[in-house]
Amino acid sequence: MTVKPYKASGDSKKQQVAGMFNKIAPKYDFLNHLLSLGIDKMWRKNAISLLKNIHQPLILDVATGTGDLAFEAHKRLGCKVVGVDISSEMLKVATEKINHRKLSPFISVQEADSESLPFEDNVFDAVMVAFGVRNFENLGKGLTDMARVLKPGGKMVVLEFSKPNRFPIKQLYLFYFKRILPFLGGVISKDRDAYTYLPESVLNFPDGEKFDAELIQAGMRPIKRFKQTLGIATIYFAEKPIQ
Ligand SMILES: C[S@@+](CC[C@H](N)C(=O)[O-])C[C@H]1O[C@@H](n2cnc3c(N)ncnc32)[C@H](O)[C@@H]1O
Repeated sequence: MTVKPYKASGDSKKQQVAGMFNKIAPKYDFLNHLLSLGIDKMWRKNAISLLKNIHQPLILDVATGTGDLAFEAHKRLGCKVVGVDISSEMLKVATEKINHRKLSPFISVQEADSESLPFEDNVFDAVMVAFGVRNFENLGKGLTDMARVLKPGGKMVVLEFSKPNRFPIKQLYLFYFKRILPFLGGVISKDRDAYTYLPESVLNFPDGEKFDAELIQAGMRPIKRFKQTLGIATIYFAEKPIQ
């Protein structure tokens, strides 16, 4: 089932997602850290640590948004990162942060769609995406194009929300996700739909083994899954086969 942010709208999921992130961009960083109680920073750090053995990698950050995963990669690995996103307003915030931190020699961003990336085949040492795949209109197409631009042997890191399945974490998580988060997010961002879409899209998204199956379908070889904070999020680590 495709979950879209604005149920009454006839626009495609992609148009709606870009519009939604354009609208919440100025408040995105603040809300992200508030609603996750800051835990998202640790998850990004854990995701980047999987790439530490690659020597001076060139990395593509898909659905880069305001750039936090790209900044973390540069900070930890000293590498160059190219970020892409379909939301011009999210990229505007990313660009302000890049300029403010004087990181333009290392981090660049551009408007582009994960489903048709404007890069040649086999160019990146690693491709990563945090909290982006759930928003793709066509997950298979997005993952396949991300695999295409990876060098053979290159690594893919996907950080995404998942569903904890143990009592009482599952129940607490559902209460927080379905009640508290839409209320707080809605009041602060003034877009209640955006923060109702968040839990709905997570609950309907393939996680765990099902997401590994999507990676395989896209031509990747899953290496390992790392559950974060009792399964609230998962990091998927995969490799593009050499032949
Ligand atoms: C929740 S934000 C995540 C931003 C950032 N990666 C982070 O960790 O904070 C999701 C981002 O995915 C982007 N996005 C959704 N579909 C996309 C697509 N098909 N191609 C590129 N970006 C996309 C949205 O515009 C939005 O900026």
